Amino acid sequence: MDYKNLLFEVEEGIAVITFNRPKALNAMNTETMKELMAAVIDCKNDESIKVLILTGAGEKAFVAGADIAEMQNLRPKEALAFMELGHETLRLLETLPKPSIAAVNGFALGGGTEISMACDIRFASETARFGQPEILIGLIPGWGGTQRLSRLVGTGRAKELVMSGEQIDAKRAYEIGLVNRVFPPDQLLAETKKFARKLTGMPGFAIKMAKHAINFGYDLSLDNATRLEMECCAQCFSTDDQKEGMKAFLEKRKPVYTGS
Ligand code: CAA
Repeated sequence: MDYKNLLFEVEEGIAVITFNRPKALNAMNTETMKELMAAVIDCKNDESIKVLILTGAGEKAFVAGADIAEMQNLRPKEALAFMELGHETLRLLETLPKPSIAAVNGFALGGGTEISMACDIRFASETARFGQPEILIGLIPGWGGTQRLSRLVGTGRAKELVMSGEQIDAKRAYEIGLVNRVFPPDQLLAETKKFARKLTGMPGFAIKMAKHAINFGYDLSLDNATRLEMECCAQCFSTDDQKEGMKAFLEKRKPVYTGS
């Protein structure tokens, strides 16, 4: 598929989706969100893709939020449809049975922070800035900022960010657990790809089960969540990769995984 506002490349099993509306600091309008949904579905269906990276074009922004110009005159019903489109897309991304990494290269505000939080892992450049500034334009977050942010950093910090609209830098985002690793700007993408390559070499079914157990166990009671974990772990024993992983360990050699 041809995208107008995204770049989509696949290399060595790693898909890189680059938000590419530099004139609007990669802000997400309806068209771009629909393209993101199509790209995520492509990643899901293409078996050669093992890991997905999301980043922003240029040095200034990952995504500077939902497109304020497009939202300005929406009525509540239209706003609800816009928020539903974003939620549907981000839930698809979050539940993609493959790992996703946000490489946050600059402003990740509002919808930008929200997109990054729907990824499994967030790497940031030292120049990245995060925040939920919707309150400053008379809104609250609409693509998961009140929910995923609370789950990642706790309700106290989420309320601090959502109610004040303050931005935080990459160092603070790392301190509160919003980002996993911070790199100098010129190393961000290379380091993210290096980590992605590591994941492409892992047994794919086990990666899928790990993500499933964490995603779907989180909101369950501990009894139900541990039951889910046991079942996911047990299912790994149906794969050749489990046999190969354990055999290779016992034979003191590197495993050769086939993804089956
Ligand atoms: N929507 C539409 N256009 C945007 C935009 C956005 N979210 N963010 C930036 N732009 C546009 C600006 O209007 C400007 O366009 P023009 O050159 O045509 O005037 C261009 O991008 C460059 O932006 P600035 O001149 O503002 O650049 P700056 O360096 O002075 O500031 C910034 C950068 C701090 C990121 C500032 O642009 C900003 O505050 N942007 C808005 C951030 C924001 O409020 N995001 C949340 C949106 S609401 C949301 O996301 C709701 C939700 O949860 C779904």
